[in-house]
Amino acid sequence: MKLLKATQNNIAQAAEVLRSGGLVAFPTETVYGLGADGLNPIAVAKIFEAKQRPSFNPLILHISSKDQLQTIAKINNRAIVKLIEKFWPGPLTLVLPKLEIVPDIVTAGNSTVAVRMPDHPVALELIEQAGKPIAAPSANSFSQLSPTCAEHVVKQLNNKVDIILDGGSCAVGVESTILYLKENKVSVLRHGGTAIEDIEKIIGKVSIETGPSDSPLAPGQLYFHYAPKIPLRFFNDVNIMDYEFKKVGALFFDRNRYNIEFSGERILSPKGNLREAAANLFSFLHELENENLDVILVDPIEEIGLGKAIMDRLRKAANKFS
Ligand code: TXA
Ligand code: MG
Repeated sequence: MKLLKATQNNIAQAAEVLRSGGLVAFPTETVYGLGADGLNPIAVAKIFEAKQRPSFNPLILHISSKDQLQTIAKINNRAIVKLIEKFWPGPLTLVLPKLEIVPDIVTAGNSTVAVRMPDHPVALELIEQAGKPIAAPSANSFSQLSPTCAEHVVKQLNNKVDIILDGGSCAVGVESTILYLKENKVSVLRHGGTAIEDIEKIIGKVSIETGPSDSPLAPGQLYFHYAPKIPLRFFNDVNIMDYEFKKVGALFFDRNRYNIEFSGERILSPKGNLREAAANLFSFLHELENENLDVILVDPIEEIGLGKAIMDRLRKAANKFS
């Protein structure tokens, strides 16, 4: 890990690290973010690895210009233009329908993507030079407080990031407000740095949908969890003979461990690499659910490192059907 002052040269170096798939912690006006190239699924998997989150939460894509929004999300509501005119750059995140280019691991399988343009010169310069939207959660490790200065990041993520850019302390100090925009409705998913009253002055009444786990300290675990539309079970919870005449999709870690050919088959990582497995998880589930199968059977993987988060997601999907 390198702790660098946010000078022009160091920002350029950090942008290069992002372009080559590395992790950079950087200051925003709200809290420090743990950034990776938001269009590179393997780089994004490294974020979850570094944070040691035992589950996948969808991530915010950070952009450096308002125009960049239309390259990653659908503008589906007239309020959007007013909101970004008034509040961007700033602590307001918009959840919108995602475009194809956004990898499934960024949205944790959801069809929506969260986007914001941070109001911080270092963040904007870094994103601009990286030339990509930057996926970044707050740069804390799981269940720890959000970092509002570079020292907090050093303490929590020390050797798990390639570069920490020190840009002093964060002016706002709490995470961004998150709005979910449907065609004719705007809901608040998280209260944060932009006051609801100010938002309502611009677009009128919004509905509040924050659940108990949507506070900035315990981010939205319950909201918008993707689950496949067809039943998902673990091999070791079923009698495989019961599926003899069914169309079975099978999801394995590094190889098919059964002497059976399945109607649909996916290997998360033939090399047995957890990062690659995480990067493929949601897109493989999407593919399988579109293949007219009766069931997806999953071979459990070892719960070390990212394996924990992968199994958490699969277990939640399996619970939905049990
Ligand atoms: O101020 C901030 O927003 C900071 C700085 C770094 O930008 N970022 C931040 O990210 O707080 P994070 O990952 O700690 O929190 C993002 C929240 C999560 O609670 C997540 O569930 C929610 O945004 N979120 C992201 N994408 C979503 C989506 N497609 N639908 C619903 N919620 C989403
Ligand atoms: Mg957070």
